[in-house]
Formats: sequence, structure tokens, C-alpha cells
Amino acid sequence: MTPSLSRTAPKFRAACERVRADGQRLALVPTMGALHEGHRELIRTARERADQVFVSIFVNPTQFGPTEDFEQYPRDIEGDLRLCQEAEVDRVFAPAVREMYPEDELTRVRVAGLTDHLCGAERPGHFEGVATVVAKLFGLAGPCVAVFGRKDYQQLKVIERMTRDLMLPVEVVGCPTLRESDGLALSSRNRYLSDEEREQAVAIPVALSAAVRRFEQGERRAGAMSAPVAEALAVAGLQPEYVLITDAEQLHPLPDDTRLETRALLAVAARVGQARLIDNVVLGEDPAPIEDIES
Ligand code: PAJ
Repeated sequence: MTPSLSRTAPKFRAACERVRADGQRLALVPTMGALHEGHRELIRTARERADQVFVSIFVNPTQFGPTEDFEQYPRDIEGDLRLCQEAEVDRVFAPAVREMYPEDELTRVRVAGLTDHLCGAERPGHFEGVATVVAKLFGLAGPCVAVFGRKDYQQLKVIERMTRDLMLPVEVVGCPTLRESDGLALSSRNRYLSDEEREQAVAIPVALSAAVRRFEQGERRAGAMSAPVAEALAVAGLQPEYVLITDAEQLHPLPDDTRLETRALLAVAARVGQARLIDNVVLGEDPAPIEDIES
């Protein structure tokens, strides 16, 4: 069945309220569209946890910097609705910008600390835009389960924290990163890659996999985990923006001479041509992105 479509905030809110009034559980999957298998995986997880699955599709202007790709960001509502229909999504919320940001709105949500490093440092204002729009979506949806991907690990942590600090009635669930068969994390921005750049980009999951192997073989020095990753990306012709080891909860970078304990985040952002790609693994928790790789 074609999913129902809400275009306005009040209609979406009313639809969410009806789900609960019928005694059903609601799951929300926030997205910016250009949907792919990674999003479909979130929808699957949502379905396991709820009776009705609603997907929001909104390219959120406040999370893009002035020199970023807001205008070019891929928009494909027809394709998105088809994927949602196949995935048996019950409702799509696709508001206009003015609907989420009326002219007189004045409020922004900022999560301190967690946003100091990684993408927070590279993209000033980005997480403020993310936290603000997700708070608005949670405000409209009301009590529900909301599903996010671990591919955007810092985003997931920011949203978990915002939800807790603002006492929002939402259970936030994280979903493992879905990858292509060669290990590249699925992303709407992969559409920007030429064939050659697509091949170069595989260096990211290859390098992360080698790091997981080193960790499994007992390497515990933070610097010995991250330095070979940065080098491998540069050798492949990518421009690394950061390659960082941080603790997995507060997201504070760990100096090179730190001995890693049980878990640590290894996170990467790199430019490949036009595209800015991010990826990560939690060492001590996530499997290697590519199974059969040497350290
Ligand atoms: P978007 O990039 O469309 O991603 C929507 C959700 O899909 C996010 O939770 C993201 O982590 C998840 N996702 C993307 N690629 C994935 C993959 N390969 N495997 C698993 N999950 C994946 O993230 C956003 O939109 C926006 O910032 C948003 C939260 C909607 C706020 O505007």
C-alpha cells in the first residue's frame, strides 16, 4: 500500500496521536531523503519495535554550513515514496522548510561537550541544526521509538543526550551501519562519487577493518590505531579531515600515548572529490567492516 503523506506539522501530529489513541506503538525514522538500503535497515528495525512506522523526509537547512551542499543535496521524493512503499512504511512526513521553521521562530537546541570534536569541530553549527530539527520532530511525534544509524555515531550520541536532558518521551535506538559488499558505508552522498572516486573511497572501510584486526590482536596504543588509518587514506588519494580515537561516550579525543581500555571510537572524515564521507567503528564492540582483511 502507498504510505499516507503528511505535508503539515499539525496533520503529522494528529496522525501520531491517532496511532497511540488506537493503542498502537509508533516508531519514527527521521531522514533527509535520497533513501537507500541503510535507511531501509532503520525502517526494518523500527518495524520490529512498533506497530506503525512513520518516516520523515526533510532536508534540514539549519544543519548545513554556508559553504556546504544544501542546494545540491540529492532530492528524490518519487524514489523515496517508492522505497517507503516497498518497505511498508505507514506514513511519510515531508514538510516544506517554512513548516518546520516558521518566520518567527527563535529557538535552537545546543548540546555542549559532545559536539566539541569530530564533525562538531569541522562543521560549526551542524549539530545545533540537527538537535533543533530532531527536537521539533520529537515534539510533533510525541511518545514513540525513534531509530538512528550508528554510521553517524556522534549524531546518535547528541540525540540520545538531548532526549535525556530535555526529558522528551522518546526511546532512541541505534542501528548498525549498513555497508556495500566491499565495505563502503551506504550514504546519500555516495551519489557524488565518480567511478574512480568510488574505488578510492573503499580505502576507508579497508583501513578501519585493519584497525579492528590490530585491536583484536592486542594492540592498545591509541596512536598505533589511528596513525596507520590516516596514512592509508592519504596513500589512497583521499584528504582526511580527521582520524580520531575518542572514548565511546563523551567523545573526547584520546592522546596517542593512551592505552585503550575496553571500548573506544575510531572515527574518520575524509574528502573524496566533491564528497565528504564519514565512517567509524567502536573498537572492542563492532565487527570489522570487511571480514577477511589482514591487519
Ligand atoms: P540522513 O543522512 O538521511 O540519515 C538518516 C538516518 O539514516 C540517520 O540516522 C543515519 O545515521 C542513518 N543512516 C545513513 N546511512 C546509514 C547506513 N549506511 N547504515 C545505517 N544507518 C544509516 O542523518 C540525517 O539524515 C539527519 O541529520 C537527520 C537525523 C534526519 C536530521 O536532519
